[in-house]
Amino acid sequence: MPSARQEMISTVVDPKAHADPRRLHAAFAWLRANDPLALAELPGFDPFRLVTKHADILEVSRDNTLFPYGDYPSTLAPHEAVERGREARKAGRPLLYTLVQMDEPDHLKYRALTQAWFMPQNIRKLEDRIRELARDAVARMEALGGTCDFVDEVALHFPLHVIMQILGVPREDEPRMLKLTQELFGATDPDLRREGTAMTPEGRELDIQATLADFFNYFNALTEDRRVRPRDDVASTIANATIDGRPISAFDAVSYYLIVATAGHDTTSSSTAGAMWALAERPGEFAKVRDNPGLIPGLVDESIRWTTPVRHFMRSAAADTELRGQAIAKGDWLMLCYPSGNRDEEVFEDPMEFRVDRNPNRHLAFGYGAHLCLGQHLAKMEMRILWEELLPRLKHVELAGEARLSEANFVNGPKTLPIRYALS
Ligand code: HEM
Repeated sequence: MPSARQEMISTVVDPKAHADPRRLHAAFAWLRANDPLALAELPGFDPFRLVTKHADILEVSRDNTLFPYGDYPSTLAPHEAVERGREARKAGRPLLYTLVQMDEPDHLKYRALTQAWFMPQNIRKLEDRIRELARDAVARMEALGGTCDFVDEVALHFPLHVIMQILGVPREDEPRMLKLTQELFGATDPDLRREGTAMTPEGRELDIQATLADFFNYFNALTEDRRVRPRDDVASTIANATIDGRPISAFDAVSYYLIVATAGHDTTSSSTAGAMWALAERPGEFAKVRDNPGLIPGLVDESIRWTTPVRHFMRSAAADTELRGQAIAKGDWLMLCYPSGNRDEEVFEDPMEFRVDRNPNRHLAFGYGAHLCLGQHLAKMEMRILWEELLPRLKHVELAGEARLSEANFVNGPKTLPIRYALS
């Protein structure tokens, strides 16, 4: 019989549990109360610690010299994949080299290339265009009558249009980008994964490699195009960037597009759909924010806390140290459990309640420290604008069937959300 500790540890890494919030959050609550740095020793995986308290997630994220990625991947992977990654890096042939694979000094140099693009003063100029896209989304809901799957019809497409326009991917290629992103983040979900290989760890790895190859082929052509015909988009900034005085390599450029293209929409879609789901089940909260548009930024923050679409990132210890009074040895691998930090009862009053007027709301769904989400201002702006356009017209909303979350322990969110609604 597995011990309670063992069962809770297995739960929080099980992709299926991430589609079952009650089960997942009961396990996180147990770990926070009983073993906030629990050591996970799972078959096929190197041991790692589950960092489940808000304060500890911040402490680890704050110091990326003491807690870099090191020679581990930035997301949980089985031992064999970890070893293969190390070999590939040693041979100078990593699968990918994105911001979330980089430690200093590379990370800051690469991040600086696009940082200005995503700052509030720059993205403000996109507000009118994003508002048009939000109005299109509302018009689409209107055209659909009074029922739709909000994930398929609105939440997936609206953030996708925004990030692809910023990146510079033409509209006709958006379905391809969506599919590849879903295959990458949904590799453990039976409905989202790439078709063709077995649902085994080896099959999943092959799926991911094939998906990455498709992304690479697509983005290589984009780099070549923007080198010849630069435009005012992020793809041109990246394609023509220099690192240490030398042009960025095609491989690094493609890795960069890939992180912006994938991180930039699925997460925002998940929070948007999560907000609609929460409001559809809570007429009181819905009425509060509809009657007081000043609460929309609060709704946005609360839905990002509530859904916490990024379920973890990993770090490793660069030296012997201590956390919460416990010894952490050089080389220890740590999983930052963001959904747990965002339900930490020491930080949030009634953490299991969805409140549009939660204030303060110190959620850590965007991470913290040097890797703090590059797109956080954009994500919040997109969601704010969508609700500003939709809420004044939305008279009523309720669930019209079973809503379901994806089975994924890295990036997760609603995959179906049938709603019935009335627009004025
Ligand atoms: C609700 C939406 C979003 C959530 C919850 C989210 C969450 C996160 C998290 C947790 C991290 C890692 C932070 C850390 O390690 O400390 C991250 C990094 C990142 N995010 Fe987001 N993200 C969202 C939207 C976006 C958007 C719209 C973009 C578009 C550009 C984006 C681009 C990135 C990039 C490029 C990084 C890597 C930054 C680095 O390593 O320096 N994200 N995000």
